[in-house]
Amino acid sequence: MSEYKVALIGFGGVNRALAQLAADNNAQWKQELGFELKIVGISDLHLGAAVCPDGFDLQALRELPAEKGALSRLPGGKKEAATEEVIETSGADIVAEATFTNAVNGEPASSYCRLALTRGISVVTTNKGPVAFHAEALKRVAAEHGVYFEYEGAVMSGTPVIRLGRELLAGSALKGFEGILNGTSNFVLSSMESGLSFSEALEKAQRLGYAEADPTADIEGHDVRLKVVILANELLGAKLKSADVPCKGISGLTLQNIQDAVAANARWKLIGSASKMADGTIRASVEPRMLPLENSLTGVGDAVNAVTFKTGLLGDVTVRGPGAGRIETAYALLADIISIHKAKTAKGN
Ligand code: HSE
Repeated sequence: MSEYKVALIGFGGVNRALAQLAADNNAQWKQELGFELKIVGISDLHLGAAVCPDGFDLQALRELPAEKGALSRLPGGKKEAATEEVIETSGADIVAEATFTNAVNGEPASSYCRLALTRGISVVTTNKGPVAFHAEALKRVAAEHGVYFEYEGAVMSGTPVIRLGRELLAGSALKGFEGILNGTSNFVLSSMESGLSFSEALEKAQRLGYAEADPTADIEGHDVRLKVVILANELLGAKLKSADVPCKGISGLTLQNIQDAVAANARWKLIGSASKMADGTIRASVEPRMLPLENSLTGVGDAVNAVTFKTGLLGDVTVRGPGAGRIETAYALLADIISIHKAKTAKGN
């Protein structure tokens, strides 16, 4: 297949960035990767919906204003969201789901993913909800329908940690991981090291666009907890639910705590971790830890993320990179599509 028809569910920063990447790079992707992307449907709670089975003009998508009902300006467009209709009628091969994360039950995104998979459409998503709550079930539905469910962007955006752990570290006797998995909290801690107060640092993170509109999930560790569940289930064969992971955020740390750590050649970091115990059970947690300078996570500052895989055969392997951002997260969707393309090519279809 040299062209994939993609329906975009959610047209905020991430899926917009995917459309923009396709507009700029389709010709190059065709040569380098063996395919190009057509956008055949879009649904968004705020912007409305549009279907164009022959593919939208990508330049027109780039210029679409982010105002209520704007998708009605496109051919086949209307002012209200119509997610099920877009999935069912756009003729998409792949649904790119990038709506908000519901940290309670993963809905409605999980239902959108399930609908697409049962219609024989592969799904790529950056949304932690469907993955943390329903990865196993959704993978089963995908397999039953001969399609794929991929979610590299659910942890550390485009920095490849899920596929790295699953595929490239296969056979390395992975025993666990520990990581800085939330950019906002890391930015706040780094800023406090330079003397800002907690609220000044958080305000700055919000201004720079790292923090969620309601930053509670960033600061209290709930965002990291979902990422720990995803990584532990995916890489360590755990069957964790988020309630199984004790979770403490950074709001209890004072400027004094943070400066005392610096004076002692250490740094406070919000660490999400999971380890395989001798009896095969998995122990996971989210908590602030004071790390010594020699730990490879200690020097990871600002909004950068990093994870150290604890392996039996290689020792520690640390990957660092962006954990958020529109283009960075859209790249994860592209990486998922590349993975689907390789699997389909290997199967000869
Ligand atoms: N608000 C999150 C962060 C975005 O700060 O890392 C990615 O989940």
